[in-house]
Amino acid sequence: MTRPTSRNAADTDPGPEQVRREDELVARVVESFAASPDPRLRLLMQALTRHLHAFIREVRLTEDELFAAIRFLTDAGHLTDDERQELILLSDVLGASMQTITVNNQAFGDATEATVLGPFHTESSPEIEPGGDVAGAASGMPCWVEGTVRDGQGLPVPHARIEVWEADDRGRYDVQYADDRVAGRAHLRTDASGGYRFWAVKPTPYPIPDDGPVGAMLRAVGRSPVRASHLHFLVTAPGYRRLVTHIFVEGDEQLVVGDSVFGVRDSLIKPFEDQAGGTPAPDGRDLGGRPWTRTRFDIVLAPEG
Ligand SMILES: [Fe+2]
Repeated sequence: MTRPTSRNAADTDPGPEQVRREDELVARVVESFAASPDPRLRLLMQALTRHLHAFIREVRLTEDELFAAIRFLTDAGHLTDDERQELILLSDVLGASMQTITVNNQAFGDATEATVLGPFHTESSPEIEPGGDVAGAASGMPCWVEGTVRDGQGLPVPHARIEVWEADDRGRYDVQYADDRVAGRAHLRTDASGGYRFWAVKPTPYPIPDDGPVGAMLRAVGRSPVRASHLHFLVTAPGYRRLVTHIFVEGDEQLVVGDSVFGVRDSLIKPFEDQAGGTPAPDGRDLGGRPWTRTRFDIVLAPEG
């Protein structure tokens, strides 16, 4: 095996007998899962064992560090309930959520790239007509969003279901308020030519909940908890792969700092064209002289399977 790299290579060079003992332990633990009747579970547990032991050996993990890690996970578990999921946050900030999505959404031609679902999707949202308003009571600059849903051959996908959700300009989702409001979320259908259009509010950056152990970890390593400004999409149509994605705002400074959950794909960064107050809206809506913005997101769905 490769000799482990240590924090202080000079004083922790394990030597051949030490390496033999460590190898022997890994083999014994891997073997302990060999009789699992579920082959997938056997694969998962044996690979987890190999990678976990390789990590412990590479960093020469101290016993204090192991107990600190256990304390961290214990604290994260204690903080987790129906409304707060600290362990999903941990998966997100480690890029594990995004990597799992990447693995499970194989590149397919020019199909739109997927990104994280996030913790603020809900199972129910109001349906709106084409050109309707996703924002409802959510505050922010009015934002006209339009585009098409097509397949890999460029053919329109009529009647596709598009679900959209977003934070308001205070960086909060409706479910983060205590008053049961439903705002900043809705679903609609594409028309016969695969087109769609709706009003929303311009996305703004917001921090992931950072008052728990994950936030403390981010502070300790000098990382920002803030997510780049984004608008969530979930697009489904029979015969096509379910698409969970966002669009991001071109020019958003947080794209330079880095999105705290690694959700950004370059192909998902879209120009938002800000319009001066009084500029006529595309659908003739009276915006009362307020400035507004507009963007376009053309979606390509991969076939199912
Ligand atoms: Fe979000």
